[in-house]
Amino acid sequence: MALVLAADEEAILTAVSALAGGELVAIPTETVYGLAADATNGDAVAKIFEAKGRPHFNPLICHVSDIVMAERYAVIDPLSRELIDMFWPGPLSLVVPLKPDSGIHPLVAAGLDTIALRMPRGIAGRIIAAVDKPLAAPSANISGKISGTSAEAVADDLGDRIALILDAGPSEVGLESTIVKVQGDDVLLLRPGGLAAEDIEAVLGRKVHRLDQRAAILAPGMMASHYAPSAHLRLNVQDVRQGEALLAFGPRRVSRAEHAAACLNLSEAGNLREAAANLFDFMKRLDSPGGGVIAVEPIPFDGLGEAINDRLARAAAPRGLSINEMEQIK
Ligand code: TXA
Ligand code: MG
Repeated sequence: MALVLAADEEAILTAVSALAGGELVAIPTETVYGLAADATNGDAVAKIFEAKGRPHFNPLICHVSDIVMAERYAVIDPLSRELIDMFWPGPLSLVVPLKPDSGIHPLVAAGLDTIALRMPRGIAGRIIAAVDKPLAAPSANISGKISGTSAEAVADDLGDRIALILDAGPSEVGLESTIVKVQGDDVLLLRPGGLAAEDIEAVLGRKVHRLDQRAAILAPGMMASHYAPSAHLRLNVQDVRQGEALLAFGPRRVSRAEHAAACLNLSEAGNLREAAANLFDFMKRLDSPGGGVIAVEPIPFDGLGEAINDRLARAAAPRGLSINEMEQIK
């Protein structure tokens, strides 16, 4: 079983030497826990896919300690630079061209000539600076399962597959980073996430283009069915049916809420930030291994609601289908 260490100075040093030695370590970031490996070490990166049981070599996000490290590996255009200055460290990943002979192992970007870069907040940044290598890190969970937002959730999922988990308590944001790509004068939203697209628009004074999910070639590996609990999800419910668990939002309940077999409220106050932080943990807690149904109350689409609704739609999608396949059966 994985060693779970509270992320104090000594534990950080242990993590740094494991990572420098080509091992995997689950590390806390402000979005979700990441399963990290030295991005320049192909064997180490391959271990990520193996441990997660990720069936395809989807490109991974590469985590850097600062803009200087980012520019060592990638070409940063002025618009991306503006976003970096505003939002790093934070829940924003930017897809930018890789420099030739960057040294990032091709498995990280799945052979693409671009790379998704992000500078996380908190101790992850210190770990990266100490390793002095970018760290590839997808969410620390078995492929297709809900992203880990606590050391316990990571241990539940990956405890028998990895050696070390650093514990820094529950993730502050609770949703994976927002991924954008600058293309000419356009800013494309490849994945809604922990930074609201509206916040990016406010800073840039320009529209962020939502991708038609069918054109998700730009964000390869964005499977429609993802974040899947064992239970079936029924979204935007107006009532609760006998035996269903209820994932609630806000101060008012839908009808027959008293029928719910269990109920957790993402945010009594109707605060989307609080709801985002609770989302994966509460889905996991309402999940039942034998199936069952989780009824989900409507959640507004503004601010972080866009990413929350995106994750719920993926969790509710039929299992194992790509977005293109989803479109065909609609
Ligand atoms: O918050 C997060 O972003 C978390 C924490 C651990 O930092 N990380 C995370 O990483 O979610 P990951 O590796 O699971 O995200 C991978 C996704 C891919 O599925 C794809 O959508 C996008 O990032 N991506 C990565 N590289 C890309 C590229 N070169 N072009 C387009 N999309 C890319
Ligand atoms: Mg993930």
